[in-house]
Parts: sequence; C-alpha cells; structure tokens
Amino acid sequence: MIKEKRNAYCGKLDETQAGKEIVLCGWVSKRRDHGGLIFVDLRDRSGIVQVVADPDATAADFKVAEDIRNEYVIKVSGVIRLRDADTINPNLPTGKIEVVASAIEVLNPAKNPPFYIQDGIDTDENLRLKYRYLDLRRPEMQRNLILRHKVTKLMRDYFDSRDFIEIETPMLCKSTPEGARDYLVPSRVNPGKFYALPQSPQIFKQILMVAGMERYFQIARCFRDEDLRADRQPEFTQLDIEMSFIDVDDILDMMEGLIQYVFKGALGADIKAPFYSMTWDDAMNNYGSDKPDLRFEMPLFDLSEVVKGSDFKVFNTILEAGGVVKGINVKGYAAIPRRALDGLVEFVGIYGAKGLAWVQVQPDGSVKSPIAKFFSEEQMAKIVAGAKAEPNDLILLVADKWNVTTQALGALRIEMAKRRNLIDPDKLAFLWVIDFPMFEYSEEDKRWVAMHHPFTMPRDEDLPLLETNPGKVYAKAYDMVLNGTEIGGGSIRIHRRDIQKRIFKAIGLTDEEAEQKFGFMMGAFEYGAPPHGGLAFGLDRLVMIMAKRSSIRDVIAFPKTKDASCLMTAAPDMVDEKQLRELHIKTSLVNKKEEK
Ligand code: AMO
Ligand code: AMP
Repeated sequence: MIKEKRNAYCGKLDETQAGKEIVLCGWVSKRRDHGGLIFVDLRDRSGIVQVVADPDATAADFKVAEDIRNEYVIKVSGVIRLRDADTINPNLPTGKIEVVASAIEVLNPAKNPPFYIQDGIDTDENLRLKYRYLDLRRPEMQRNLILRHKVTKLMRDYFDSRDFIEIETPMLCKSTPEGARDYLVPSRVNPGKFYALPQSPQIFKQILMVAGMERYFQIARCFRDEDLRADRQPEFTQLDIEMSFIDVDDILDMMEGLIQYVFKGALGADIKAPFYSMTWDDAMNNYGSDKPDLRFEMPLFDLSEVVKGSDFKVFNTILEAGGVVKGINVKGYAAIPRRALDGLVEFVGIYGAKGLAWVQVQPDGSVKSPIAKFFSEEQMAKIVAGAKAEPNDLILLVADKWNVTTQALGALRIEMAKRRNLIDPDKLAFLWVIDFPMFEYSEEDKRWVAMHHPFTMPRDEDLPLLETNPGKVYAKAYDMVLNGTEIGGGSIRIHRRDIQKRIFKAIGLTDEEAEQKFGFMMGAFEYGAPPHGGLAFGLDRLVMIMAKRSSIRDVIAFPKTKDASCLMTAAPDMVDEKQLRELHIKTSLVNKKEEK
C-alpha cells in the first residue's frame, strides 16, 4: 500500500519537475510489456503520462505492473525522469518525461471496456450512451464538459459584474406557450391536475421585471416534447436573461459584450462587434433561411422579372399565381454528372419544391439546360447575368410559392456549400436576424400563431394592423445566429394589458381563455409593469459550436436518444401500479400488460 496521498496530476507534469518524487492516481489508458520493462500510460482528468515499471526500481510491485489491465484504477509513487532524446513523444504534452515507478497499487480492477477509451473512436453512439461513464472518461469528452463549465462560469461573472442577479424559477409550472408540447407531471394532492415542466422561464422572468428585479439571468433547464435532432434535446439548458427600461439596441449590445467576453475567456478568441445584422425578410429572400450561415456567399437571386413572358409554361403559371422564380449559382460546378442533378431534384422535393431547373455554363460561355428551348438567347443571357454566372458555373432554379422556393433553395445552398467544401470550419460568423414577423399562419390549426411567442411586442408602427392585417405585423424580436445555427432568441415584451389582450385575440384565444391561462400575468401588468425585454441562449448549442462538435449530445453529460430515452438508466420506464393509483392515473398500456 502507498501511504502518501496523491500530490500530482498526470497532465501537469513537465521537464522542469525532473527528479521530483510524486504520487499519482488514475486509470490505465494503455499498458505495453517490453520484455524487461512495462510501460503504463496513466490517465487522470488533467491528461496522460507514461509510467515505467522496471524490475529493479519497482521491486516487489513489478508483479502488480504485470497484472494490471486497461482501465484499472491505480496509484503510483515514483520519480519524474527526463526521457532520452530518441524516446521523446512529440504527440503527448508530457512526452518529454516519464515517471519511474517505485510502488504501484491497484485501487480497483476493471472489466475490459466495450470500446476503447480514446479520442476519435468510431463506435456506435448508443453503446457510448449506455456506458456513458466510460465515454465521458475519454479526453475529448472531458474537454467538452470542462469547456461547458468555463463558459457558464464566464457567463455568471459577466452578468454579476453588470448588476444582474441569478434567480431560480420553478420547475413545476403551468404550461408556457413556447410552441412545443409540454412534459406533464401529475399532482398527487390535486387529483386529475397536472403541472407542466417549463419550456422556458419566460413568464416568470417577465413577472420578475414587474417585481422590480430590473436585471435577471438564470442558467435554466427547459423541457420540450418535440421531435429531436442533432441540435435538439427534450431537456436542454438556456442562459436566460431579462432587463427593464431598455430597448432592442441595449439588449443587442449587452449580448455582443457577453459573447466577446465568453469567447475570449474560454477560447482566447477575439470576436468583432457590432455583429452583422439583417432583417428576417432579407435573410429569407437572400439566403432562404431565418438563420443563414454566412461563412460562405452563394446568395439567392430572384429571376421572376427576367423570366416573365417566356415560353416556359411552368414558370408562367407559377408567376401568375403569385409565386417566384429564384436561384443560386454554384461556382465551378457545371460539370456535375447528370445523375447528381437528378439527386438535387429529389433533394429540393423534400422541401416541397415541385421541380428544379439547371443551367450549365460551358467553358466557352454557351449554356446547356433542359429549359433553354423555352427562352430566347437574350432571355438566357439575362438569366446568366442575373445569376452572376461565369463559364463553368451551375445555375439552379426553383419556381414555386415564395416560402417553398426560399426554403428549398436555402437548404440546397447549404448542401452545395458542403459538397463544394466552401465552409471554413475555423470561421465564426455571428449575425443578428431582426424584425421577425409577429405571426405566421398555421395551415394545421387554421389560425395565426405567434412566430416567437405571444408576449413579444409588435413594432409601434404596426400596432394598428393587429386586427386588420396580422400577416404584415413585424415584431421587436431578434435571433442571434452563429454559423447557421440559431443560438439565441428574444424580444422586447408587451408590458401593457390592452396590447397583450389584442395579441391573444389575434392568435384566436377568446377573452375567457386568455383570462384563464394568462389572467395572472395580465393582472400583474396593471400594477406598474416596466418596459422590458430579454433573450435566451441555447447553452448546449453555443458550447457545441465552441467545441467544434456537430451534436449537442457531445456537450451534455447525460443526453437522451432520438426517442427521448436514457440508455444508461433506461428512463422512461414503467412504474408500479401503486404509484399510478396514488396519482389517480390509469394507463391503457399498463392495463393491457396486466391482462396478459
Ligand atoms: P427560444 O424558444 O427561441 O426562446 O429558445 C431559446 C434558445 O434555446 C435553444 N433551444 C434548444 N436547444 C436545445 N434543444 C432544444 N429542444 C431547444 N429549443 C430551443 C435555441 C434557442 O435559440 N423564452 C424565449 C426566450 C426569450 O424570448 O427571452 C425562448 O425560450 O438556441
Ligand atoms: P419539363 O419540360 O416539364 O420536363 O420541364 C423542364 C425542366 O424544368 C425540368 O428540368 C424540370 O425539372 C424543370 N422544372 C419543372 N418544374 C419546375 C419548377 N417548379 N421549378 C424549377 N424548375 C422546374
């Protein structure tokens, strides 16, 4: 047994400490038997160092070194020694030294892990999630969680030094209308009643402004029962912020300062502010997305005027019905194989586009296109000019309703950029998208719904349109976009009961429904609600991009799978009949099981 306590960390050792006696604890990352000598790569959270067991120096414990296997937890005492020039490992930060063991103790043996505990492994993610404690032992996963810790610490410091206070809001709530489905929690003491887990602290943070807190923030867990993707989890974390007596520009300034502070502190990166900003209309028209990736160009262009009056019936019919003809220019891609072009037609089909036309500009400047026959030479020249196309460029055109055309081309723009390798992975393209429409029409519900949420303040000049033309009302809402991901969103809020009532009416709530759901909030507005506004960042998404990962699961310690389950603990799970009875719940599924 080694009596001394651990007094050093593997990754922190370097050549300046040569000759020092130390005690290390950690996991066996690798063990190599070189006949007379045994080398052990010892890992703790700080990194890896090579330990050498030599029968002379390690004496009685050499047998221990022979028996240890990967992932054994061991304690080692020894001396730091400079490596010979020819055994230096330039790939390891501690590669100039090694630790010559004098004693080795096994604290706990380990079973052979189901996958290698090393960076860049190619293992089924479900296996990683089932054995998450092994997956998190990998250095890159540890780095991600350490980065996340640093980011939240910097956020707290930033807001603390600007007089914000962190306030916790409840998890057991009445539902907040953030647009997703709620997670419900049955109440035992109120039979038949349910709490909702918060989709965000929206209502509470606004009430905190009415309460005179003036500057609030919270690292808040949020719950949304929606279809999951790489950047969506059923429970995720927001950095949630609210301020009183401010306007849009105050919030944007404050948040740009936050981003600069966090990127500098966590990554040493200098971010330029103010950020580029564009209206929602421009984002959709020019990039086909409300979260454009500005790491590359390839803007959308509109050819509706240019192609008007051609012999191409498809375009004419669509234009007459109020649709548009828009396109993108994929530079240098004219030689794309025919089969790949058919693939692109299918690709835009996913977004509802009924067709895709292409114009291949040949090296000699002539064009090859299935639609060339419908256009005069002059018209075709205008199409090429409108696309700013040069020899070897590929013009892709979609004609459809405005929203289908922009969305399909927006997605195609990203796909083409990936295929053409136009995205610089080291670039950070920040952007504000502002002036969102207040409402969008839901075909499913046959009514207007709030695009952001119904507490968002319309632009002053648009207030008169609330009752007459809701589709033309724009909101004091803003999203922060980074590299094509929406990392945050917020708005100036409504702080007056009369305007709030008009919004609820516009989204189809009767006065009674509005009163029943939000009466307490509108009531609060009557007791001196200050003008206020705020924003929430998706912390997981922000850290994901900072860590250069493509899934938020890599920056969440215990994430859920696509079907919202935890593979390690097997949640969600059936519960005892007794628990259900106490909650006054009967499920048809449990009953079926009992019948068998
Ligand atoms: P919003 O709904 O836009 O706004 O959410 C804010 C940010 O949270 C992140 N986000 C998610 N991240 C991971 N998984 C999810 N399922 C998920 N859903 C959203 C996004 C998003 O930008 N109460 C308002 C904020 C406000 O108005 O102040 C709100 O929740 O990065
Ligand atoms: P057709 O003469 O119908 O074969 O169409 C000629 C070309 O126009 C084909 O390449 C079609 O893919 C394309 N096309 C058809 N509909 C559309 C549309 N809505 N938008 C863009 N291109 C289209």
